[in-house]
Amino acid sequence: MYQIVKSEKLNANIYLMVVKAPRVAKHCLPGQFLIVKMDEEGERIPLTICDYDREAETITIVFQPVGASTEAMTALKAGDCFMDVVGPLGNPSELVTDDLEETKKKKILFVAGGVGTAPVYPQVKWLHEHGIDADVIVGAKTKDLIILEKEMEAVAGNLYITTDDGSYGRSGMVTKVIEDLVAEGKQYDVCVSIGPMIMMKFCCLTTKKFNIPTIVSMNPIMVDGTGMCGACRLSVGDEIKFACVDGPEFDGHLVNFDEAMKRQQMYKTQEGRALLKLREGDTHHGGCGHCGGDK
Ligand code: NAD
Ligand code: FES
Repeated sequence: MYQIVKSEKLNANIYLMVVKAPRVAKHCLPGQFLIVKMDEEGERIPLTICDYDREAETITIVFQPVGASTEAMTALKAGDCFMDVVGPLGNPSELVTDDLEETKKKKILFVAGGVGTAPVYPQVKWLHEHGIDADVIVGAKTKDLIILEKEMEAVAGNLYITTDDGSYGRSGMVTKVIEDLVAEGKQYDVCVSIGPMIMMKFCCLTTKKFNIPTIVSMNPIMVDGTGMCGACRLSVGDEIKFACVDGPEFDGHLVNFDEAMKRQQMYKTQEGRALLKLREGDTHHGGCGHCGGDK
């Protein structure tokens, strides 16, 4: 069992939990994710790792209730336990595995949208701890939905906050801030964009105009998280990839976002999964037997 050490509501719809998970805390790196299960019958819920403390053997997760399982998770308090915490899953961020001296030469821009701020934070923190101060744009619909502002301020080179309604920071979506920064003379060698798929799509269209290579972290529906079920299938360039084992990070300029967003919707119904199976054949389902995608 994995005990919840701290449970906090960050705003009306976003929750933070610190969970004792020694093995994950010991091995995880920024960019990776984990899967939690509340009890024997519980759904497997993939969540990005927002922070980790190797000494305290804890990991921090941030989530937004989007279905029955994440809604039920909001009732968990400090002292309660998850039955399972599986991870770390997926690959660490390129920026933490690439040659450090090469990374130090780069001007890096992070773009975090809404809850996507949570997976951006450990990357910016890791870079800061290794002497690299990246610029960070954080966007949210409104002031109340900005999360981790103080934490991000402590590790970012420059932090640019923007709200869609102009209630805090700059006004407008994150893509407008990218445009403004470039117009102000800023130059970037790489951009990392993490947030809703629609945001990542438009970030990539924007960075493409400025020839800024862009990494995105894809979070399609996941079931097993081990490359078996096919739920997280994506087209990247002319290749088929699975976000859980090949990602979650990909070259954003190659990701087919329109297909990923459409697939996300279709995967939610049995009828949709049947149609995907017909269209995608063998690569639709690896036969894990958990998701019902083959029925
Ligand atoms: P949101 O809808 O409030 O969007 C956050 C910001 O993204 C906006 O403030 C805006 O600046 C930008 N944005 C949104 N649409 C845009 C567009 N069309 N063009 C340019 N910029 C745009 O975000 P939210 O409600 O916090 O996000 C929830 C979604 O994020 C969920 O679908 C969740 O699955 C996803 N998410 C993704 C990751 C990941 O790893 N990619 C991590 C956590 C959450
Ligand atoms: Fe990636 Fe199942 S979640 S293949």
